[in-house]
Amino acid sequence: MSKPRILVARALFPETVALLEQHFDVEHNQADEPWDAAGFIARLQGKQGVLTTGSECVDAAVLAACPELRICANMAVGYNNFDVEAMSAAGVQGTNAPDVLTETTADFGFALLMATARRITESEHFLRSGQWKRWRYDMFAGAEVHGSTLGILGMGRIGQGVARRGAYGFGMNVLYHNRSRLDPALESECRARYVGKEELLKTADHLVLVLPYSASSHHAIGAAELALMKPTATLVNIARGGIVDDAALAAALREGRIAAAGLDVFEGEPRVHPDLLALSNVVLTPHIASATMPTRRAMARLAADNLIAFFHGDGPLTPVNSVMGSKV
Ligand code: GLV
Repeated sequence: MSKPRILVARALFPETVALLEQHFDVEHNQADEPWDAAGFIARLQGKQGVLTTGSECVDAAVLAACPELRICANMAVGYNNFDVEAMSAAGVQGTNAPDVLTETTADFGFALLMATARRITESEHFLRSGQWKRWRYDMFAGAEVHGSTLGILGMGRIGQGVARRGAYGFGMNVLYHNRSRLDPALESECRARYVGKEELLKTADHLVLVLPYSASSHHAIGAAELALMKPTATLVNIARGGIVDDAALAAALREGRIAAAGLDVFEGEPRVHPDLLALSNVVLTPHIASATMPTRRAMARLAADNLIAFFHGDGPLTPVNSVMGSKV
């Protein structure tokens, strides 16, 4: 029997490609060539499965052009690059890569919070550019982290990881807002208190965004929300570009309406709003919150295991939709 044909859309760990080759007829992209939508569709012809990253968009046009496609396995926990409704309608299974990146991403959220509050990159640039001539009492004086109020918008697994770090590691008063309230046992384990979104915005000294992107979270933080925040507050986004209105954020940062921001994700990335690039009170990183080698290996392995389980008829391990009458 011939093996199912799959596409690996981006460069990947050689051992993961080798594992896939044991099960599938694999076309890979180890050269990491950038494909536009037409190039992606061209490579998908005749493929039954694809391993995507968050950068490849699977929408109705892709699905219509690739009728043999049965499964898209995303090497990311977020899957806003998938049109899940169109995939379900086309009978195409989607999977994501949750859990394996939770703690690593929460670590990074905290690193970005610390770097932002304590002005680490800004002061490093100052030093490297030879401007450090002598000590001064208020030089790069930032915001306090320990004992301050941590606000978390989006209290899934990663949000809970950020809460624990804040509460247990830094003695922070942790508040959160989420679509639904956590059960009381989990709330008390995270030492986090549920509040309304407005109260969260008004009281947080450090606000961390960890919610999924969807039409309803588009610009969840815009000019009106930023106006509610304290002028001394910092904002950290490790969720998705588009949750924050980047132009409104740049204006708020420029005018001192909030103190600083730490951003790992951007609207329309890898493009970064030029107004953000021009500011010193913002820490910018290129979407690397899950980037440790063990975690990226685990994410790749989970995406591969989803493909393997699906084609072996065991069902996907971490589905994001349910597909009636799967074609396998
Ligand atoms: C990264 O952004 C992910 O969703 O895994």
